[in-house]
Amino acid sequence: MNNKDVRRGANIYSKPVLGFYDLLVVRLSNTLAWRCPSRLMLDQYNRFLGQEHLDVGPGTGWYLIHAHLPERNRITLMDLNENSMEHTGFRLAGMPTAGTRPAPRAVTGNVLEPIPEHLGNFDSIATNYLFHCIPGTWETKSEAFGHLADRLTDDGVLFGGTILGHGVRHNTVGKGLMALYNRMGIFHNRDDAEAGLQQALERSFHQTSVKVVGTVAVFNARQPRR
Ligand SMILES: C[S@@+](CC[C@H](N)C(=O)[O-])C[C@H]1O[C@@H](n2cnc3c(N)ncnc32)[C@H](O)[C@@H]1O
Repeated sequence: MNNKDVRRGANIYSKPVLGFYDLLVVRLSNTLAWRCPSRLMLDQYNRFLGQEHLDVGPGTGWYLIHAHLPERNRITLMDLNENSMEHTGFRLAGMPTAGTRPAPRAVTGNVLEPIPEHLGNFDSIATNYLFHCIPGTWETKSEAFGHLADRLTDDGVLFGGTILGHGVRHNTVGKGLMALYNRMGIFHNRDDAEAGLQQALERSFHQTSVKVVGTVAVFNARQPRR
């Protein structure tokens, strides 16, 4: 995998871009372009967040900030782009319950590489809107599921959502954004289909669930294969 392409999927998240991400993506694009309301993905956070939580590719941290965090849970942020972790860390520190939980940890890392063992294992891992930013086919992207499964507890859960490019009907706004973002190297999802995601998850987990809402595959997986 070309490292430059992988970095391009993360480099776009500069401080100014993070400044308008919530409005453009969370509030507008999710409903108007991708037809998967942010509330559905927030529901996953509320359902699955565990005591030790790893958030890979947190972006602005919108979901973490709006979710009901379990009492005293610890959040670890992992991203290739330090701006995302700084932005999310700052928002988490401003939450009223910040003093009641351990300070978040931030780790610079690429999900296509093994996740350091010293971080321990996680009860929940979120990868929301991460996989459409990762270059390659589901064959390549499935390596990331292997790394994430290695760091999940036996009864933990991996969850997320990813925008598909194949086998779904994009509306006019979605088609325009897909073409633009794929051309710019922000998205790498033209060939991403539901079946490929399902197979990629099954390689690393015994129990998987994928549901397509609009053009977004909302998924979760349990029981990592050892
Ligand atoms: C589209 S944003 C998602 C933000 C947020 N999770 C959401 O659902 O709105 C993608 C995030 O993934 C990060 N990212 C992209 N490629 C990555 C990689 N290979 N490894 C780790 N993080 C990556 C980006 O820097 C960015 O923070």
